Amino acid sequence: MTKMLFISFLSLFLVSNYAESCFSDSIDMIQDKSDKKEDNKTEFSDLPSWSSARGVRVLVNVDSFGAVGDGVSDDTKAFGNAWKQACSTSTSVLLVPPDRIYLVNATKFKGPCAENLIIQIDGTIIAPGEPKNWDPKNPRIWLYFSNLKGVLFQGDGVIDGSGKKWWAASCKKNKTNPCVGAPTALTIDQSSDIEVKGITVQNSQQMNFAISKSESVRVFNVMVSCPEDSPNTDGIHLTASQNIVLQNCKIGTGDDCISIVSGCSNIKMESIYCGPGHGISIGSLGNDNSTGFVTAVVLDTAFLKGTTNGLRIKTWQGGSGYVRAVRYQNVQMEDVANPIIIDQFYCDSPKSCQNQTSAVEISQIMFEDISGTTKSQKAMKFSCSDTVPCNHIVLNNIFLKRSDGKEAETFCNSVNGYEYGYVQPSADCLMQSNHSFQQHQVKSERLIHTEL
Ligand SMILES: *[C@@H]1O[C@H](CO)[C@@H](O)[C@H](O)[C@H]1NC(C)=O
Ligand SMILES: *[C@@H]1O[C@H](CO)[C@@H](O)[C@H](O)[C@H]1NC(C)=O
Ligand SMILES: *[C@@H]1O[C@H](CO)[C@@H](O)[C@H](O)[C@H]1NC(C)=O
Ligand SMILES: *[C@@H]1O[C@H](CO)[C@@H](O)[C@H](O)[C@H]1NC(C)=O
Ligand SMILES: *[C@@H]1O[C@H](CO)[C@@H](O)[C@H](O)[C@H]1NC(C)=O
Ligand SMILES: *[C@@H]1O[C@H](CO)[C@@H](O)[C@H](O)[C@H]1NC(C)=O
Repeated sequence: MTKMLFISFLSLFLVSNYAESCFSDSIDMIQDKSDKKEDNKTEFSDLPSWSSARGVRVLVNVDSFGAVGDGVSDDTKAFGNAWKQACSTSTSVLLVPPDRIYLVNATKFKGPCAENLIIQIDGTIIAPGEPKNWDPKNPRIWLYFSNLKGVLFQGDGVIDGSGKKWWAASCKKNKTNPCVGAPTALTIDQSSDIEVKGITVQNSQQMNFAISKSESVRVFNVMVSCPEDSPNTDGIHLTASQNIVLQNCKIGTGDDCISIVSGCSNIKMESIYCGPGHGISIGSLGNDNSTGFVTAVVLDTAFLKGTTNGLRIKTWQGGSGYVRAVRYQNVQMEDVANPIIIDQFYCDSPKSCQNQTSAVEISQIMFEDISGTTKSQKAMKFSCSDTVPCNHIVLNNIFLKRSDGKEAETFCNSVNGYEYGYVQPSADCLMQSNHSFQQHQVKSERLIHTEL
């Protein structure tokens, strides 16, 4: 008993110290951490920086292909022709020069390309803002890159979707509007060994930056910015992709800051700032009775501010498949609604959704060192299917207080798991009565979560 008390005091001490140091300047903390990590980018060390003296690089400037860069002239053709040249030339740099604004229509930049291509975006690329004139052949894309291998995107440039009229035309904004999809500003599809560094994606028509059917992609120092009330403007969206690292990204938008959907595994997120937005999400999965799989996801070090959800897993009734082996650690929340939420009754449809017997199975989810303030009474919500319970939900060192000083609580439906260390609000509803089972689980959980 004495030992137990000592341990909980110790963890209380650790948690409150941790909370204090992180609240003050969490952004600095995020910056510091990733700068150190930057030194060890083994997987991309074979891509030289184009400004380095080593290796001769062929510069392919969009201006040399007739791009005007005044924000009014149509530079689509110039970009297409510059792409043909850069893609077919080895060790070339496709340059979008600084201090100019290039108006570009929906464009497919297709590979495969000659080796060591760098896409240097220093200027601003904007989309035409009128949905009525959008290319009907490409309703869901704007800047779309596919079949690339070993390509580096970098620069301090901006990709701006000019989304204002698209948002107004969304059925989420006005129910009289038809529900049709809008373009994703930046897409990387069917590619591998890609690095994206430094650029900003903003005001997208719908999703800002999607990575699909790709492998080994590192996104570093990327910023996403959209208004809080822009509909469906996910920040970074991952689908059917493996070995993805998102590092040191600052995302503020009108939907999920990060969304990870079916077919994703080995996803590492580190030093992420999110807010405003709908949080960092796995899902939604299982829509229209579909099968979804997401495994091996780690979020380490994040700061969420003013978001409508924090760490969220969302699945529809009637789906199948699983979400397995997820670890969230070192997360600070400030004024976040639903800081920790597993929702197997997700329903983002105008019609109400019926409960069904089938559901996407959720297991081996660990929340460790999560603290800060919640806007909602239910700081933790484990709302799991009656027929497919959530299993092995583990909480360790959680400290969530309500912003208004009232009492926070934990909600459980059909969930199995346990807590250890300091957990507030208490999650007794999660606890299993079998202590030897728990001890066994603490050990095996450590093993389960060593994959990243
Ligand atoms: C970077 O790599 C060096 C040498 O391999 C290693 O000693 C160091 O710990 C690594 N640093 C980080 C931050 O991983
Ligand atoms: C870009 O889109 C506009 C508006 O639809 C159209 O008038 C123009 O011809 C397009 N430019 C190119 C190069 O396709
Ligand atoms: C919704 O759209 C309809 C038809 O375009 C328009 O008359 C109405 O004013 C809009 N409502 C809002 C709230 O913007
Ligand atoms: C999903 O499955 C349920 C139960 O079999 C069925 O009632 C429902 O119509 C299906 N929904 C769709 C969109 O296929
Ligand atoms: C579905 O099941 C949940 C959990 O038992 C329950 O809270 C909810 O009311 C049910 N929804 C419907 C539409 O029956
Ligand atoms: C408790 O869990 C252990 C390990 O899983 C198991 O062997 C044992 O039978 C369980 N005891 C009870 C009473 O359920």
